[in-house]
Amino acid sequence: MSSQALGGPEIDGGSPGTLRHLAARNHLSIGTAVDMAALASDQVYRERIAREFNSVTAENVMKWSEIEPQRGQLNFAPADELVAFARANHQRVRGHTLVWHNQLPEWLTSGVADGSIAPEELRGILRQHILDEVGHFRGKIYQWDVVNEVIDDNGNLRDSIWLQQLGPGYIADAFRWARQADPKAKLYLNDYNVEGISAKSTAYYNLAKQLKADRVPVDGFGIQGHLGVQYGYYPASAVAENLRRFEALGLETSVTEADVRMIMPTDNAKLQAQAQGYSTLIQGCLLARRCTSFTVWGFTDKYSWVPGFFEGEGAANLLDENFNSKPAYDEMVSVLTLAAR
Ligand code: XIL
Repeated sequence: MSSQALGGPEIDGGSPGTLRHLAARNHLSIGTAVDMAALASDQVYRERIAREFNSVTAENVMKWSEIEPQRGQLNFAPADELVAFARANHQRVRGHTLVWHNQLPEWLTSGVADGSIAPEELRGILRQHILDEVGHFRGKIYQWDVVNEVIDDNGNLRDSIWLQQLGPGYIADAFRWARQADPKAKLYLNDYNVEGISAKSTAYYNLAKQLKADRVPVDGFGIQGHLGVQYGYYPASAVAENLRRFEALGLETSVTEADVRMIMPTDNAKLQAQAQGYSTLIQGCLLARRCTSFTVWGFTDKYSWVPGFFEGEGAANLLDENFNSKPAYDEMVSVLTLAAR
């Protein structure tokens, strides 16, 4: 069964009982980040992605450091592989990410640091990067994270090389260049710690409002959704309230990188609390009017960025390291089953 997405091509439902089937009934794309090394080596990983999800995001291979490791030498091969996998499995592809302060090519950061790349040249490099990458995937990406994490936790524009070298106008420029290269892709702002209404999410709200007023082609607001059981969560109603204010500006919304980590080892109480974290995000999305996609940042604890980035933490995904369902997976199924959007 498939159904019409909000402002996009078809959402493919796949087999009954799967997340993708349940999500399609709610007009929702459901995705996962994909680790290309695991995709190449692990058949169970491949089969589960094909079965459970109708959307994929490159966990790394669409980032600038991967696309242009040497200046002027573009390497789209790994990302093209993911696009081919998605096509074979009737899945959509989320593009992640064009402008970020992390995972930049070394030639770029060192060139800026030693002054051999001056601001004017840097602006041209950024423009070319966006035109090259978005142009390469033109027509194959339904949502692009155009700018990622451009506001800090205090609600100020992040003090990145982009802001320092180019000034705040780089954000509008990035959206305009992306639109030029692919007029159909939905163009997103994306960040973490913006699930509920806070100084940070309100800074995004004001930014989105200003971009809209300036006729900048911004289409969407993405909340990453990297949660931890030890921090607690906004209730679903608060997530929905936040998403809805962006929708009132004319944007669609998405959850783009959901995971709920915990301090190891796991126990039953933590796994139940984790299920509640996923629940607030999926319910928040379903309670909003134009939340179009829900992506988890990995789906099995066998492959996760969390242990490498948060010391002593892990087990952040829906399935355990043996691909068995955790309470969080069952919760996703039951929320999507109960919802009738
Ligand atoms: C992470 C990947 O999962 C890791 O493999 C990589 O080493 C670092 O980046 N926010 C984002 C993602 O927007 O791109 C990050 O992904 C996780 C946090």
